[in-house]
Amino acid sequence: MTQDELKQAVAEAALEYIRPKLDDDSVIGIGTGSTANMFIDALGGIKGQVNACVASSEASADRLKSHGIPVYDLNVVDKVDFYIDGADESNAALQLIKGGGAALTREKIVTAVAEEFICIADESKLVHTLGTFPLPVEVIPMARSHVARELVKLGGDPIYREGVITDNGNIILDVYNFAIPQALATEAKINGITGVVTNGLFALKPADVLLLGTSEGVKTLRAE
Ligand code: A5P
Repeated sequence: MTQDELKQAVAEAALEYIRPKLDDDSVIGIGTGSTANMFIDALGGIKGQVNACVASSEASADRLKSHGIPVYDLNVVDKVDFYIDGADESNAALQLIKGGGAALTREKIVTAVAEEFICIADESKLVHTLGTFPLPVEVIPMARSHVARELVKLGGDPIYREGVITDNGNIILDVYNFAIPQALATEAKINGITGVVTNGLFALKPADVLLLGTSEGVKTLRAE
């Protein structure tokens, strides 16, 4: 199967996972990226059963609206039942690297509210140690050089993502050559650098479930 076919399979599996649990009151959090887009398109097929969504990016909100699915501001809902999103990497503890699409801060905010975070990914995303994928860090623009110097002190090689401004008006530094064996400590340490909005490690609040697309079918993984 191709990577896109595996992504499509997990998007459909996520729909089947939440569908029996949906009611008139449910709020679904929607992530960002190519796998999340496939989930949005699948959700469009049952839009009559969808009470409300909140989105982690303007792009996902626009895609949901194009299907006629109601999208709300996070501030006007009092809960998010599920959050469905892809990842750039996951380890066996379901700690993730996210932010390849520059939506990490809003993704982390919706994750913080969600009662259950369902990560959907193809098998290439499952790794032993996080960090082969460069770690995205969202930074207030005037702090770019300061934060880059601090990231070098931590052992990484930060590269400014040219031409990218986040939905929040900030810039992204991608940290290369930065193996992350202790994701909890690293997430907290980088968030402590003045000028960092957030970083793409989702370890303090990892995924609850990982639906992993493999050539043998979709596997349901929970944190080890
Ligand atoms: C968006 O900012 C990211 O966190 C995505 O969830 C991540 O990059 C996965 O994207 P794909 O589903 O396109 O692989």
